[in-house]
Amino acid sequence: MGKIIVGKTTDIPPGKMIKVSIDGRDILVANIDNNFCATDDSCTHSGSSLSEGKLDGCVITCGWHAAQFDCKTGKLVKFPVKIRDLTSYNVTVESENIFVEM
Ligand code: FES
Repeated sequence: MGKIIVGKTTDIPPGKMIKVSIDGRDILVANIDNNFCATDDSCTHSGSSLSEGKLDGCVITCGWHAAQFDCKTGKLVKFPVKIRDLTSYNVTVESENIFVEM
């Protein structure tokens, strides 16, 4: 699919995350100390929208049952049982525009 523009850097303040829809797929884009990262927005446990959870550093905590994922890698950080990692995506910034590579 290539590089998709998802917004401007000013759209996502540090420590915040948003959900964008790319070709019908919900993607979470987060700003961690002005480094941007992107993963699937849907929790691999039961499908909650992770962008409605909490972001602490690079750790996303799901608002439903508190699964934790690393926003930079998509890897599961903490949950009582093994669930799938999130798919993560490369993010680049050019002239204040944020691009997600899919
Ligand atoms: S839906 Fe995310 S932890 Fe259950």
